[in-house]
Amino acid sequence: MYNMGNIRFKDISGKAGCLVPIESKRNIPFDIKRIYYITQVPNEIRRGFHSHRQLHQVLLCLNGSVKIKLKDGNEELVVELNNCSEGLYIGPMIWREMYDFTEGCVLLVMASEYYDEKDYIRDYEEYLKEAKQFFGTK
Ligand code: TYD
Repeated sequence: MYNMGNIRFKDISGKAGCLVPIESKRNIPFDIKRIYYITQVPNEIRRGFHSHRQLHQVLLCLNGSVKIKLKDGNEELVVELNNCSEGLYIGPMIWREMYDFTEGCVLLVMASEYYDEKDYIRDYEEYLKEAKQFFGTK
């Protein structure tokens, strides 16, 4: 699938616990302008249901686990994040749905741009239309 991939971060772990350094443009492929985290999500809740036109993001599950369904208008893929050094890169025009948040799950998101609602595509039919144009030429 285009515009997504796993990122393995260096994990400095030992008896004293686990430390994962993250550096802009070194181990994530963009400059981080914004971070946010999602936590306390009830297990039956599904989030996401959108894509971005321009935004690049890396997701990292710091505790617990969560499943991410990804679509590119053609293929679909489910990735489970359950390890604090295994990140998921999601680039432009990838539809995502997040579900099965376990109790205590903390999902960290690093983003290449400030929040901009105009960058979102929240309507799936509109997404399919734009994804066809976007990926059609690749
Ligand atoms: P949204 O990105 O739709 O969350 P999710 O995909 O996890 O369901 O954002 C939920 C709400 O929060 C929406 O009203 C926009 C707002 N929001 C901000 O104001 N700033 C942000 O950086 C983000 C990510 C969301």
